Amino acid sequence: MIGLQNWLSQWFIKCENWFVKYILRFLPAGIYDKTRFLKQYLIDRIQRIDSAKDVGYDELGFDARTGSPYNPGSWWDLKATLGDSVSTEDVFIDFGSGKGRMVCMAAREYPFKRVIGVEICEGLTAIARRNIQKNLHRMRCKNIELITANVVNYEVPDEITVVYMFNPFFGDVFANVIRKLLDSLSRRPRQLRLIYRIPTMHEFLVQNGFQVETQLPDITVYVAGLKQSS
Ligand SMILES: C[S@@+](CC[C@H](N)C(=O)[O-])C[C@H]1O[C@@H](n2cnc3c(N)ncnc32)[C@H](O)[C@@H]1O
Repeated sequence: MIGLQNWLSQWFIKCENWFVKYILRFLPAGIYDKTRFLKQYLIDRIQRIDSAKDVGYDELGFDARTGSPYNPGSWWDLKATLGDSVSTEDVFIDFGSGKGRMVCMAAREYPFKRVIGVEICEGLTAIARRNIQKNLHRMRCKNIELITANVVNYEVPDEITVVYMFNPFFGDVFANVIRKLLDSLSRRPRQLRLIYRIPTMHEFLVQNGFQVETQLPDITVYVAGLKQSS
């Protein structure tokens, strides 16, 4: 049963990518939004998680100075960027983890040693917790930590090797997190990959020594720290 469920999930994720690329992006805006939500909702049901519905600033109780409101990353983001490069020594973090879609994907699909989500809104973290709980039986990594915190108050663990961000914050907040990641790399030298959806702070990253590894339509993957030995 779990095998069938996983197979169906994989199949839907592949179809989503195809659907967005060849159909959805050509629809008029009004129809696009409705179709997008319906598609997200259906995939949520199959994945047995609740992550599709956006949450705006009014409900979250902060504004753009703190960060972006909630909308979920694409199911395809990790498949498209990580391939089979994850080892049991890798540790994943999603800064601004929202309802936990990427945390679920990382823990379910990859052999990470540990998967972490940091989210400022406790309501969203509570939904993420339920999503993890419902799917724990099919996670490859069961060492999952969800933390409610503003990232500016969060100490970055020195074992992080893969960072995911869906444009969660900008300006000083972003600079604060990148500084903490760079400090962590100095304390414990290693290679760090940053998967960045809608990379609005691209210039800042390049100025701070992050190199572009892969560029896809909405996502850029950066590397920093030690070069990977081949
Ligand atoms: C665009 S959503 C991405 C959600 C999730 N990463 C995903 O891909 O499904 C950005 C998230 O960042 C959170 N966020 C914004 N500012 C933050 C901050 N300063 N500290 C922690 N989380 C923050 C928001 O509440 C929101 O859930």
